[in-house]
Amino acid sequence: MPVNVAVFSAQPYDEASLTAAAADKSVALTFFPPALTQQTCAMAKGFSVVCVFVNDTLDAEVISTLHALGVKHIALRCAGYNNVDLACAQAHNIAVSRVPAYSPETVAEHTLALILTLNRKTHHAYNRVREGNFSLNGLLGFTLHNKTVGVVGTGEIGLAVVRILRGFGCRVLCCDPQKNPAVESLGGEYVSADVLFDRSQIITLHCPLTEHTAHFIDADAIAKMQKGVMLINTSRGAIVDTRAAIDGLKQKKIGALGIDVYEQEAGLFFTDRSLQIIDDDVFERLLTFPNVLITGHQGFFTQEALTEIANTTINNIEDFAHQRATQKRFLLS
Ligand code: NAI
Repeated sequence: MPVNVAVFSAQPYDEASLTAAAADKSVALTFFPPALTQQTCAMAKGFSVVCVFVNDTLDAEVISTLHALGVKHIALRCAGYNNVDLACAQAHNIAVSRVPAYSPETVAEHTLALILTLNRKTHHAYNRVREGNFSLNGLLGFTLHNKTVGVVGTGEIGLAVVRILRGFGCRVLCCDPQKNPAVESLGGEYVSADVLFDRSQIITLHCPLTEHTAHFIDADAIAKMQKGVMLINTSRGAIVDTRAAIDGLKQKKIGALGIDVYEQEAGLFFTDRSLQIIDDDVFERLLTFPNVLITGHQGFFTQEALTEIANTTINNIEDFAHQRATQKRFLLS
């Protein structure tokens, strides 16, 4: 009997990559475009596995309903798991698996795309040239070589960012409660968060969202940063207090903000809302700044990463079905 999997928040690219990964496996996939929420979780009836992504809701209420419907395994097709109430899953004996490391360079390279775009203003230049405007006024950037960049979180992605930045000739300061020896061998230096805030011209966030890192970048942290700092977040939206960042932009303390993630992105990102009224005034305010660049959580979005995510997710589903759960990919034993 194949394992029956309900895939929520399914986009066409998820369907393609997961279907290819499951081709020779005993896994039957059913794709549901809506996100998993308390309103949609009835669709999981008859499935032993739900396969979910970053903005699906897996709070106590949803997990209790999934348990009542007979779901035994929540298979995250992402690395972060801040949206899952793990204690509730454990209490209901529901396994939770994830894709801990898929091509960390994928997100690291997107981080550099944000830094380089904001610095050299290629997004503005693209539009100018298309409109016959070849003026350079306002497009002045800085040379990245020899600049000091602060990397918060030096796990898989943070380390890949350190490696790339060292290639650019940057000085790299890092903070992480768990030091990664590879950082220092690449020429990075561990310092406290306060020293990192004080000395960095660019700060990029690569720690997970936890109760300790929620609003890690708040008004106090921004006050400690250099005037004109470039702040980059490709990790999770709520690590930055968006209202404090807006104040920092208005005061010109933050010179550029690049975000691939946003505190209230659930219900906004991953869908075409171009003909709808967006009623999130904080998000709309961000869009008014010429020195803010927002991408809609696409840091993971390369062919290589999608293939790796799909293969690991299908392996996780098969491993659990055959009682081969491993600690690294399964969050609960
Ligand atoms: P990882 O688990 O390998 O590394 C995270 C690092 O952050 C660890 O070394 C940890 O000790 C450190 N950390 C924890 N608390 C910290 C704190 N208070 N200050 C500084 N460092 C702290 O995770 P990985 O694979 O590097 O991913 C990082 C995050 O990137 C994920 O949690 C996820 O939220 C985000 N992500 C975003 C994607 C996107 O498409 N934009 C795609 C994949 C991941």
